[in-house]
Order: sequence, then C-alpha cells, then structure tokens
Amino acid sequence: MVKFGAERQRRTGLVMPKGYFQPNVGGETIPVAQGELSDLAGDEPLFKNLFTWFIQSGGVYKLAFGPKAFIVVSDPVVVRHLLKENYDNYDKGVLAEILEPIMGKGLIPADLETWKPRRRAIVPAFHKAYLAAMISMFADCTQRSIDKMTALTESGQEASIDMEQEFLNIGLDIIGLGVFNYDFGSISTESPVIKAVYGVLKEAEHRSTFYIPYWNLPGAAVLVPRQRRFRADLAVINDCLDGLIAQAKRTRQADDAEALQQRDYSKVTDPSLLRFLVDMRGADPTDKQLRDDLMTMLIAGHETTAAVLTWTLFALVQHPAALEKALAEVDTVVGDARPALEHIQQLPYIAAILAESLRLYPQPPILIRRALGDDVLPAPLNGDQNGYPIGKGADLFISVWNVHRSPHLWRDPDSFRPERFSETNKNEGFEGRWAGYRPSEQRSSLYPNEVSSDFAFLPFGGGARKCVGDQFAFTEATVALAMLLRRFHFSLAGRPEDVGMATGATIHTANGLKMRIRRRHAPADPSLPASEAPKLQQQPVAV
Ligand code: HEM
Repeated sequence: MVKFGAERQRRTGLVMPKGYFQPNVGGETIPVAQGELSDLAGDEPLFKNLFTWFIQSGGVYKLAFGPKAFIVVSDPVVVRHLLKENYDNYDKGVLAEILEPIMGKGLIPADLETWKPRRRAIVPAFHKAYLAAMISMFADCTQRSIDKMTALTESGQEASIDMEQEFLNIGLDIIGLGVFNYDFGSISTESPVIKAVYGVLKEAEHRSTFYIPYWNLPGAAVLVPRQRRFRADLAVINDCLDGLIAQAKRTRQADDAEALQQRDYSKVTDPSLLRFLVDMRGADPTDKQLRDDLMTMLIAGHETTAAVLTWTLFALVQHPAALEKALAEVDTVVGDARPALEHIQQLPYIAAILAESLRLYPQPPILIRRALGDDVLPAPLNGDQNGYPIGKGADLFISVWNVHRSPHLWRDPDSFRPERFSETNKNEGFEGRWAGYRPSEQRSSLYPNEVSSDFAFLPFGGGARKCVGDQFAFTEATVALAMLLRRFHFSLAGRPEDVGMATGATIHTANGLKMRIRRRHAPADPSLPASEAPKLQQQPVAV
C-alpha cells in the first residue's frame, strides 16, 4: 500500500488542512495499489507511477495516503460512466479547491449549479462561423513566429530555437485575440501582463502537483514569497481583464449584436468570445463571472495547445516516414497559401498526427472528480467482474494517460503511429461492453474522439463537461503546424532524452524543445489572400 500522509508531513513540516482530501469513503472492495512512497516522491511524474500500478492492479484501484484515498480509473467503461452516464453525480473536487483562487467559478472548476447556465452561454460562442473567422488570425500569429525564425536563418544558415517557448508564444497571442481581442504580442515583446500570465500559469501548475494546499494556511499569502508574487501577478491580469470587460460593455453596439446573433462575422469588428458573451441577449453575467470565464479560457486554451504542438514536433522529427507524409500533404494541399477552412478539411494526415500526439501526451494527463452522492462504478474491462460501490465524497483520478496507453485497448500503445486512426479496432474480447475504435468515414469531423473510440481516446474529455475549445484548438494546431512545416526543416539539437518530461496541468518538457532549424521554402507573401490559394493539383495524401 502507498503510505503518504505522515511521511510527507514529516519531510515538509506542513500539516494537511482538515478536509483537503475527503475521507476514505466507500470503495472497500477496490484493489489497493502496492507501492512505495518513494515512487511518488521520485523524479518520475505522478502519472507514470499511476501507470505502473494500473498494470499491476487493474482498471480501478485505490491509492491510500494515510487515512485518505484516491480511486484511480484507467478503464474506458468506467470513464464513460463518470463523464457521461452519471456525470451529474460528480464535481471537480480537489481541482476546484486548487484552482478557485485563480479561476473563481469559471467553467472548469465550477460547481454544477454555476456551470449549467454558463456552459449554455459559452458553447454557442464557439460556433462554426466563429472558427472560420478565427483562421486568418491563427495564421497571422503563426506568421509572427515564422518572420522571427526567417530572420534567424538569414542567408540560409542554421539556427537554434526553443520551439516549446515559440509554441507558448503563438498560443498566448492566439488565445488573447480569440477570447478577448487583446494582442499580447508575446512573440516580439515582453510586457508586465505577459510576465504575469506566465507567473500565474506556473503557480496553477505548482498547485496542481503539490499535494498540500499550504497557500490556504493563515499568513501564507503574505509570508511565502512565491505566494506574494502570485497575488501580484493575479492583480495585474485581473486589472487587464476588468479593463477589457468594461471596454466591451462600453462599446456594445446594436449592429454588432445583431450580426453576432446571425453569426455574420463579416460585419463584426470584434469577433472575440468576450464580445459575444457581453452581447448575448438574455444572459447577464456579473463582471466577476465574466472575468472568471475569461481567465479559465486563457489558462485552459493556452498551454494545452502549445503542449500538443510541442510533442507533435518532438515525435515527428523522430519519425521520418510520418514527417515525409505530413510534408507531402501540406505541400499539396496548402502550399504557400495562408491556410483557410477548405484546407483544414483536406489535411487528414495532419489531423491523425495531432490526434496521435494527444494520445501519447494527453493534456492534462489526469482528470479529477469527487462524488456528490453514493454510486456504483461499473466493472472494468480487465479486472473484477463486479462493480465497485463508492460513497459520497470519494475522490477520483481519471488517468487519461493510462487509458490512451492501455495495452488492453491499443496495439503498440507506446509507438507513434498516426495510421492507427484509420484502422478499425473492435477488440473482440470486450464485445458488448466496449465498442472499440472506428475510423472516420461516417464522422463529420476529421478528428477521432471519445465517441468514435467509446472513451478509449478522450483528449478533450467527454460527456457534459467536454472541452468547449476542442475545434478551436485542433484548427489552431493544424494551421500552425502546416505553416511551420512548409517553411522550415526541424531537427533536435540534442538527444531525445535531453528534452525530458515534467508535468503540471499539462505535460511539458523538462528542458525546452531545443531545435535546429533551416529554411525549407521561401516565406509566403503575406499579402496573398487565402482565396488565392493554389488549387489542388492532386488528391490529398490518404492516412
Ligand atoms: C475542458 C483539454 C483547448 C476551454 C477541457 C477538458 C479537457 C480539455 C480534457 C475536460 C476537463 C474535465 O473533464 O475535467 C483541452 C486540450 C486543449 C484544449 C487538450 C488543446 C489541445 C481549449 C481551448 C479552450 C478550452 C482552446 C478555450 C478557448 C475549456 C473549458 C473547459 C475545458 C472552458 C471546461 C468545460 C466544462 O467544464 O464545461 N479541456 N482543451 N480548452 N476546456 Fe479545453
């Protein structure tokens, strides 16, 4: 059994506040993981240890920390139950407690009562017409990076660059413009707001990996230097968001509201989500609620997409056959044009590459839930034949990492093989209980998801609390990847092991993604409108 509480408290000198982890409620029949505390305190990220215990203990097991426990779920049938079939018996538990000081009652941590009306207000904002209006902005922000990299490789020489940082910068500029029409300009400048955003992100990450919420202890906000810094950073961002909300309210115009209601973005001067949320008829969120929503989307949409691009490039440069196929598809479909909606739909191999990267490096690797009432978890595919009763207050970790790398569900689970998404995987042994994976023919979207895999592939979660930004993120990542691959050759500056892995809310590198770059094609003419994209000469590359 993994013992935690007393030892960790002895080492840190900190006492776990009462009620942080809920008592070990129910789940007496659940297998208990056998491990050592040193496994948790070692260098490996937590989710890697959770994988070892999954292989030993099955799709549902318990991790005990002294008198408290977490139930770790690594099975698609149980995940489907938690996220879809009985979703309203669960809230975000520990995660909400950790994130509340940053995101307030924003959509991710919100309790069900707050969440319902806000979800109803926010989902329509991500309409297809909004995404179409965003694509040229995605291209503009990527172009800023391309211009910088072009200057670095002047007269054809090779240059070094940390691509993880570059993807973070592109992602920050995109989320600022897409969500609240604010240009961080992070690719070329440093500002107090950018510094504050990175400071708060770091703290959000620290809090999601630190087991003891010492920041809630009396005086910690003043006495602990990193907590003082955090409060100052938060104040800078809150001021900025408050200013943007006030401005959006001041500049509300009947014409814009009318055009937004009709989703006619050609007539809208500010297509951001903030404009939509402020102009929505009927909904009248408080300024604080709006700020919580914006802060949530800023954090949820920035690092996640940057991490996907980071690990995609990391994987691609080590898989020359996949890279070659990707380049052929980009050259044929997009060429030197600025990517537009019609291109995105003709890039199935790029879609499969991004999905494969999200399978191997899910962002975040763990989802967190707490039971609001008693429940019975269904029996996992591999393990006990009976379900497991659990009690109100039980804390659960859904390990997306484990599900995505499960040897029971995927062939060669650890290899990077985008082609897997064009193969059917019915896994005969589980018939009737798990529907397996079906490739894309009948689906409207190019991207595989939790529906086509019956919860074996859930990069954006699933059920009622599924990510609202999935299409935004996939489109953004497709545009950025296509444009960068067209322009530059990439290779790792060191060994793959040097990149390392660390985790917080998302999985990122330990040491940056240091790459050598060389020019591949001449920079695009930025004045070339998307409509002048070269017409397709050949069929797109099949996945
Ligand atoms: C929720 C992943 C991009 C906004 C989620 C969840 C996941 C996820 C797994 C479910 C969390 C849970 O069930 O506990 C990702 C990934 C992204 C991404 C991998 C990029 C590749 C975005 C973007 C936005 C966004 C771009 C907004 C612009 C949200 C929000 C929620 C959410 C608001 C909460 C939804 C709710 O509870 O109703 N995301 N996300 N995400 N995501 Fe994303």
